[in-house]
Amino acid sequence: ARGSIRATRPIEAIAGVIEEKAYAKINLALHVRNRRPDGFHELESLFAFAEDGDLLRASARDDGAIHLSIDGPFAQGLEAGAGNLVVQAALALKSASGTGNGADIRLTKNLPIASGIGGGSADAAAALRLLDRLWGLGSGRDALLAIADPLGSDVPACLVSRTLVGTGRGEALDVRDLPGLAGAPLLLVNPGVALSTGPVFRGWDGVDRGALDASRLDAIAGEGRNDLQPPAIALVPEIGEVIGALKGCAGLSLARMSGSGATCFALFADAAARDEAAARIGTDHPRWWIMATRIRGE
Ligand code: C5P
Repeated sequence: ARGSIRATRPIEAIAGVIEEKAYAKINLALHVRNRRPDGFHELESLFAFAEDGDLLRASARDDGAIHLSIDGPFAQGLEAGAGNLVVQAALALKSASGTGNGADIRLTKNLPIASGIGGGSADAAAALRLLDRLWGLGSGRDALLAIADPLGSDVPACLVSRTLVGTGRGEALDVRDLPGLAGAPLLLVNPGVALSTGPVFRGWDGVDRGALDASRLDAIAGEGRNDLQPPAIALVPEIGEVIGALKGCAGLSLARMSGSGATCFALFADAAARDEAAARIGTDHPRWWIMATRIRGE
């Protein structure tokens, strides 16, 4: 229509740069069943993903090298070398496929680091999707899942980025639709304290509180639990304050910690209630990180 703004061309149409979002992960429920001899824990997890997250962009290099640069609000302190999961994912895909291609990768870090919402795992998974496309490999989901698995327990789930039931260490995945979940207004709140996964698992009390009822997934949100929430709160008491602040908000359907913390999520009846909660918590706790988003649809 006359007077409307002309659509801008996507960046990938301009300069051979393609992009992929690294969607923030949440665990609607996270049930720890037992500690395995290999030190990992047997889990049952109901994963969902936010519409928002980090952003990866890449362009091809013909010398075969992988170069990563990082910007964005949480870039500081994050190494861009071989220790970064994005670089590890790129090298794993190169070696699995035998490609001689390389890439310049730019990671825009919007999500707090070591915070229970995927972060590095989502970045690694997005790197696999992005480079598979950039290099024209057409690897297919199963091949990418096999590459994702050794990179970290949440990387396979992040590769799919749909509502999933995960078992095993988190890597045995079953895509599931949860009626009414897609598009649900979501708030992510982090008290600004980084928390490593290992110590939280080591604080788990060893009590198996029972399984997900996979036939009643829509009840899991309400009746499920995050077994890592008590040990995480013992390490970082502010997580309890975040949950308390969320539970004081109108229109709340569920407030719970995600993963091993410290980020908590809240689902709201409507976007207005979510935005009101975001405004209020932002005023009361100016140092907390808050992201207003939605559950990624099917
Ligand atoms: O697989 P990932 O590197 O994300 O795991 C980080 C740490 O979290 C592991 O070293 C382990 O201590 C703990 N973990 C666990 N059981 C899982 C997943 C992770 O104990 N299922």
